[in-house]
Amino acid sequence: MAGFPIDVHLSEHGLLDSIAEDVRRGMTSPQKYLLPKFFYDEEGSLLFEQITELPEYYPTRTELSILTDIADELMGRVAPREIVELGSGSSTKTRMLLDAGYKAKTLTRYIPFDVSQTIVESAFIELQRRYPGMALHGVIGDFERHLGLVPPAEGKRLVLFIGSTIGNLEPKERLELLGEIRKLLAPGDFLLLGMDQVKDIAVLEAAYNDAVGVTAAFDLNILKAINNALHADFNVAEFRHRAHYNRDLDRIEMHLYANSPQTVHIADLDMTVEIAKDESIWTESSHKFTEATATSMLQDAGMTLDAWYTDPLRYFGLALATAQG
Ligand code: AVJ
Repeated sequence: MAGFPIDVHLSEHGLLDSIAEDVRRGMTSPQKYLLPKFFYDEEGSLLFEQITELPEYYPTRTELSILTDIADELMGRVAPREIVELGSGSSTKTRMLLDAGYKAKTLTRYIPFDVSQTIVESAFIELQRRYPGMALHGVIGDFERHLGLVPPAEGKRLVLFIGSTIGNLEPKERLELLGEIRKLLAPGDFLLLGMDQVKDIAVLEAAYNDAVGVTAAFDLNILKAINNALHADFNVAEFRHRAHYNRDLDRIEMHLYANSPQTVHIADLDMTVEIAKDESIWTESSHKFTEATATSMLQDAGMTLDAWYTDPLRYFGLALATAQG
């Protein structure tokens, strides 16, 4: 890999390391739940890629179109020496910004941070080809645990947290994470944060209940991921997916409902779980924001909104923020 470092802070099993404790807690809670980070085993990551191409699922293509529009202006205005990207995945959307920074000869280092070593390694091959001379430094970790292990800045920094992943976190966790992100910023550094916006409920619900059932397959796959990781025997065929919008909390909530009473054994936890007919397992919340709620969330974490980039329909938002002095 031409000498570019990849610091690995997660084992080969990645996020499945801490899965046991989280699943035990979720399966003994009055409202049973699993955590969205468990969606992304190999199969789940492929299904998510397919979601991003669905006609109903507007976030990915809308965010990409905003990034395409603003790349030159943003990279001119911020002029970072380095980009740190949380949840970089294949770094596809990031290319808009990397292209602009590379062309302007201001950007000299890219630091992708992701849970998957395989994905970062394959991204490196493409990045080396596309940006000869640019330094790369990969970090493999869980952004809720390992942000303190990002290598020290070598110059003006832009931190990217795009894709609306922030929406998966509860307000308290999100504040904690933004507080950790703030520590990555020196005076004059910036954060670019991607968020899905509050909009017509029919549009939101369609995006998470697509007509061909890819989102249902993605949701159900979390049970397969738990079966594999913990030697459990969830009968995937006996659950159905449904997502609904919670207006009071501005979020989509995804649930798996049991079609019939289920007795599930989770061997590695030495645990038996009873699930009643039509009882649900809550698998994901996807919070939606406005410019106003984004501003106050950043404010609460010690940051100031510098610019708000959106699309003509205001479906998606990208907040550019700085740390307060
Ligand atoms: C990857 C968290 C941004 O919340 O829209 C897509 C995940 N879940 N369809 C989202 C997801 C169902 C997605 N994020």
